[in-house]
Amino acid sequence: MSKKPDAWDSWVNQTKNFSTTEILDWSLQNFSGGLGFATSLGPEDQVLLSFLQQRLSVLGLDPGIIDVFTLDTGRLPQETYELVEKNRKFFEIPLRLVFPRSHEVEALVNSRGPNAFYTSVEDRRQCCHVRKVLPLDEALVGKKAWITGLRRSQAPSRTTVDLLEWDEGRSLVKINPLVHWSADEIWTQIRLLKLPYNTLHDKGYSSIGCAPCTRAILPGEDERAGRWWWENEQHKECGLHVESRTPSRLSFQKL
Ligand code: ADX
Ligand code: SF4
Repeated sequence: MSKKPDAWDSWVNQTKNFSTTEILDWSLQNFSGGLGFATSLGPEDQVLLSFLQQRLSVLGLDPGIIDVFTLDTGRLPQETYELVEKNRKFFEIPLRLVFPRSHEVEALVNSRGPNAFYTSVEDRRQCCHVRKVLPLDEALVGKKAWITGLRRSQAPSRTTVDLLEWDEGRSLVKINPLVHWSADEIWTQIRLLKLPYNTLHDKGYSSIGCAPCTRAILPGEDERAGRWWWENEQHKECGLHVESRTPSRLSFQKL
């Protein structure tokens, strides 16, 4: 079990009623140089990026104090890459694309096939592990804290997400500045600030991940119904946000 920082309880107390702006300021000031922001380029992350840009400017801080990165699984939709291009023009904060290790992807697809994620939950998790979870672990090496766009109302598995959490598996502080936001509030903010967003949202896509594992949702469906739609609800997490996990490349060696 990883040890929480000595100041953990006082941090939780100090930040528990913080607004999005306040928690971002606190994070930028406390974890300067050791702070990462994992953006999937989803609407929440676009809103967060605009907040971050604003707070860096208000606080007079250099954008280099935060590492903003996207896990490029190699299977992202073309529209997501188009958004990367738009972001490069719209935002001043640089975005780093993080790739999985090529020999691990090769071993995976050559042993199980390029679309094995449709055959079993285990195969799907292995693909997410190689293409997302391990690269996330690597992107976070040397960091003290990471920011995500998680919201409580996104899914039943996320109703207990807190503003400030201890990421046990990675021994890092995890900051979720949008926990209390609704999807409507996110979209209001995007329209208000005219932020760029993934054009797949205009075609009925709600939550967007990899192309083969994402579809548009039908009226009345949950916002994450289009993710891994062939699986049961309880399996629908890719491992990025699962608390107790085996943080290893060893499990992969069994493939
Ligand atoms: S997922 O675990 O099912 O893929 P979701 O798409 O809801 O997650 O995104 C939740 C948060 O996880 C995002 O706001 C972002 O912080 C992080 N995240 C998810 N996918 C990526 C990605 N490809 N690159 C970087 N961060 C990601
Ligand atoms: Fe692989 Fe699909 Fe997971 Fe992307 S979402 S890493 S393609 S299983």
